[in-house]
Amino acid sequence: MSTYKIYPNVFIGEGAVIGDYVIIGEPPGDHQPGEMRTVIGKNAVIRSHTVIYAGNIIGDNLQTGHGVMIRENNVIGDNLKIWSQANIYHHVRIGNDVTIHMGSGISEFSTLEDNAWIGPRVITTSVLHPGCPKAKECWKGPTIRAGAVIGGNAVILPDLEVGRKAFVSAGAVVTKSVPDHKIVFGSPARIAGDTYTSLSCPYGLIDKPYREDETELAQTSLQNTISQLGGLGRVK
Ligand SMILES: CC(C)(COP(=O)(O)OP(=O)(O)OC[C@H]1O[C@@H](n2cnc3c(N)ncnc32)[C@H](O)[C@@H]1OP(=O)(O)O)[C@@H](O)C(=O)NCCC(=O)NCCS
Repeated sequence: MSTYKIYPNVFIGEGAVIGDYVIIGEPPGDHQPGEMRTVIGKNAVIRSHTVIYAGNIIGDNLQTGHGVMIRENNVIGDNLKIWSQANIYHHVRIGNDVTIHMGSGISEFSTLEDNAWIGPRVITTSVLHPGCPKAKECWKGPTIRAGAVIGGNAVILPDLEVGRKAFVSAGAVVTKSVPDHKIVFGSPARIAGDTYTSLSCPYGLIDKPYREDETELAQTSLQNTISQLGGLGRVK
C-alpha cells in the first residue's frame, strides 16, 4: 500500500521513485487542491517525508533527501540534489546542476544559478528588517551566481550577489555582495586575498581543487533553464 499523496494537477515524468509519506501538489493556504499546476521531470527520486507544494516547475533527475520541503511557485532546473531537512521557500529560481545540502533554507525570491553548491545549514534571507510593516514590499532574496560555493552554516543577507565561482567560507555572514571568484571569511564576511581557484589541497591529493572553466559557465544560464522548462513537452 502506498503511503504517499499526490494531488490533482500534478505531472511527474517517467521513472520516478517516490518514498513513504511524500506529499506532492500540496496547495498553499489561499489555493484549492489541484488549482495550481505542478510539474516534475523524469527520473525523480523523492525520498520519504518530502513535501512539494503546488505550482512548482522542476526539471529532470530531481533527488530529495528525507524530510525536504519545497514551497510553491518555484522554477527549478535539471539535476537538483537537495538533501535531508532542507527547505526551499517560494518564488525561488534555481538553475541546472545545483546541490543544496542538509538543513539549508533557501528564502523567498532567492536565485541559485547553474552549478551553485550550497553547504549544510546555509541560510539565505529575503527581508532586511523582519516584522517591518512594509517587509513584504521589499522581499529580495540573494542571487548566488553560477558555480559559487557556500560553506556550511553561512548566512547570506537579502538582495546581495555572490559572484560566479565565488567561495563563501564556512560560518561566514555575508553582508555585502561578493565579487566573482573571490573567497570571503568571517562575520561580517571580508574578502580574502586568495581567489577560489588559488586554493590548494592540504592533503596533497590534487594540484588545484577548483579550476576555472569558462566554457562550462558560458553555456549555462538561469534564463536558458527557465525557457527550456517553458516547453513542458518533455515531461510525460
Ligand atoms: C574557505 C576554505 C576552503 C579555506 O580553507 P583552507 O584552504 O584550508 O584555508 P587556509 O587554511 O589556507 O585558511 C586561510 C586562513 O583563513 C582562516 N580560515 C579558514 N577557514 C575559515 C573560516 N571558515 N572562517 C574564518 N577563517 C577561516 C584560517 O584560519 C587561516 O588563517 P591563518 O592564515 O591566520 O592561519 C574553508 O575555510 C571552508 O570554509 N571550506 C568549506 C567547508 C564546508 O563548509 N564544507 C561543507 C561540506 S561538509
